[in-house]
Amino acid sequence: MQDTHHQPVRIAIVGAGNVGATFAYALLLSRLAAEIVLIDNNHAKAEGEAMDLNHAVPLASPVRIWAGDYADCAGAAVTVITAGSAQRPGETRLDLVQRNAAIMKTIVESIVRHNPLGLILVATNPVDILTYASLKYSGLPTARVLGSGTILDTARFRYMLSQYFGVDPRSVHAYIIGEHGDSEVPVWSLANIAGMRLPVYCEQHDLGCRDADMQRIFEQTRDAAYQIIERKGATYYAVASGIVRIVEAILRNQSTVLSVSSFIQDYAGIRDVCLSLPTVISGAGVERVIRLELSDEEKAGLQQSAQVLKKFIEQMNF
Ligand SMILES: NC(=O)c1ccc[n+]([C@@H]2O[C@H](COP(=O)([O-])OP(=O)(O)OC[C@H]3O[C@@H](n4cnc5c(N)ncnc54)[C@H](O)[C@@H]3O)[C@@H](O)[C@H]2O)c1
Repeated sequence: MQDTHHQPVRIAIVGAGNVGATFAYALLLSRLAAEIVLIDNNHAKAEGEAMDLNHAVPLASPVRIWAGDYADCAGAAVTVITAGSAQRPGETRLDLVQRNAAIMKTIVESIVRHNPLGLILVATNPVDILTYASLKYSGLPTARVLGSGTILDTARFRYMLSQYFGVDPRSVHAYIIGEHGDSEVPVWSLANIAGMRLPVYCEQHDLGCRDADMQRIFEQTRDAAYQIIERKGATYYAVASGIVRIVEAILRNQSTVLSVSSFIQDYAGIRDVCLSLPTVISGAGVERVIRLELSDEEKAGLQQSAQVLKKFIEQMNF
């Protein structure tokens, strides 16, 4: 990471739409950044968001916020990419690949031209494929390009489990791995509350924990975006909170374990693809990917998820 002792901590955001603007607002409230620059090819939109956000500053804490261009990425500790099309009702994330891959090349090359030393964090969907594309287009080391991946799905999963088990979601330890999308995999074999596997916890607390209940919780997790998009057209609060959490781990060098998308070198026969596994995130970006001990079924699910992503990557020829 760059020396931030003498420079204000800058975060650049490319794409000032629902996700980008909500992230900017959450970041403003988090007090993690001294400078937030919004870049969007709809410059008026970025300006409007910057104006509105600036008017919250006297009520929050001092942050310099402005609508800029790619030159303003210079010196940013992290550039977050949220630009591009979102899913329309009924569309999968993978349906977006053609539309969003095309804009990603220009965006990433423009970022790196002005900021060869920072980190790139991708949230645009399909996030795993676009994280891979950003890695290739940028030429940056694998540690410095990551995607929000399943941080959102993991949060949804923990929330839904917490409702079922009647505990704080922060006390539920469970991960969704693989694609941020339809082929994602719940890691039931390692899910726990207070270190107790869920079936044991259920037994002791007289909870049903029928397989059908667990399956329903996973399906609601996996399909949450469809449900929300059908009702309000887009999702943004939870993903924005996830991006803040990743940025916090980076800026504060926390070595936090988060399920983010990163380049997989060799795990369970999976290589040369970006997908999510619990990953240690610190000031340098991706410190290491945790090699989970998965059940055979989970391993097969992850390999299948990697296959889905690889097929798209091969077709795209990045
Ligand atoms: N990773 C996740 O968990 C997650 C969650 C929700 C949404 N998303 C994704 O985030 C992306 C943005 O969603 P949204 O709801 O904010 O969409 P949005 O349409 O509200 O915003 C997209 C913004 O990108 C801008 N843009 C488009 N092309 C650009 C370019 N070439 N350069 C700069 N800016 C450009 C648009 O002007 C717009 O302001 C979508 O791909 C969506 O699927 C990801």
